[in-house]
Amino acid sequence: MRPDADSAAHQRFVAAARAYWRGPLFRELYREAQAAPDTAATLTTHRYFAWLERHLQRMKYSGPRGLSAIAQRQRDDLLAQVAGPLPPHLLALDASLAAPDYWTDHDIHQQPGGLRDELGAFVYREAVGGGVVGTRGLHERFAARVVRDRRVKRVLDLGCGFGRSTVAFAQAADQAHVDGIDLSESCVTLAAHESPEALRGRLAFRQADAAASGMPAGAYDLVTSTMLLHEMPESAVRALIAETARVLRPGGIVAHLDFLPPADPVLRLLFEGHARRNNEPFLLEHSRIDLAQAYADAGFARVDVVAFDEEDGALAQPPRAWRLPWHMIVAEKHA
Ligand SMILES: C[S@@+](CC[C@H](N)C(=O)[O-])C[C@H]1O[C@@H](n2cnc3c(N)ncnc32)[C@H](O)[C@@H]1O
Repeated sequence: MRPDADSAAHQRFVAAARAYWRGPLFRELYREAQAAPDTAATLTTHRYFAWLERHLQRMKYSGPRGLSAIAQRQRDDLLAQVAGPLPPHLLALDASLAAPDYWTDHDIHQQPGGLRDELGAFVYREAVGGGVVGTRGLHERFAARVVRDRRVKRVLDLGCGFGRSTVAFAQAADQAHVDGIDLSESCVTLAAHESPEALRGRLAFRQADAAASGMPAGAYDLVTSTMLLHEMPESAVRALIAETARVLRPGGIVAHLDFLPPADPVLRLLFEGHARRNNEPFLLEHSRIDLAQAYADAGFARVDVVAFDEEDGALAQPPRAWRLPWHMIVAEKHA
């Protein structure tokens, strides 16, 4: 997107204020809270941290200089970017898809209209910029760690968004065909149009529900998702696990990258507050599910849940900056 000068200045201010919030302000709060973790919520610094988190996010998306308004002013130009012809296999939309209520009823991340909006993917892409909460290369790091020396020929990326996770897996598994599915028409459309030419023969994007994908049974060596599970209520996560078991071949792997609660009480307080302040209605519900047990019940062995360092030193103590508690959840379907 190309914001006008006033909007660009507004967005630069928000980005600079967020850098202060997640860096110096967080470190000061963490230091003060160590003295009395049980009462950390009452600290003035905590209230300031919480207020900034909520309102900087609102300023990013909403109001006349927010990302949604910037996108609306360029609506025709943006839609023209995804109007050209594509190879027929690359994109399949489903106008009859009944999206679940949990997806239609909430503006997750405070993004007005969420990814249901026709411009939703453009706004989301601009909001995350080059990285995820400031981290470049996260998707590539995750994909490389999952694929390693495994022989992977067919991959299904659930909740693929505008394709970052899907493309990262196509690069990591350099012989594989990768299908990306998402409920959002805007997302899969942008993903298909922006997919690298060199990978297009091995990619396909489809509008579909991860919990009832319609993909063939036993067809995939690897099913993956990045930042999907925490956006789903428990019943949908359990349906997704059953669907994953159905589409994986025996001995196939599932690998999720998502957020699970930190053990540190101060970080946990901030994580729980983040769920409210960032409009993440299912984050805490998801984090209470025993995923290892749920996968074991669905016929998987060797379920590993491990902290994920999205960049070198990310797990250092004391933490250098506020970060989301990334975890990898990896399980192997019984052969
Ligand atoms: C936070 S985004 C992550 C996108 C992408 N994986 C990435 O890492 O950039 C979560 C995505 O999951 C999608 N989603 C949520 N529930 C879904 C479901 N039941 N089926 C398919 N996609 C879903 C949303 O539309 C959104 O695009």
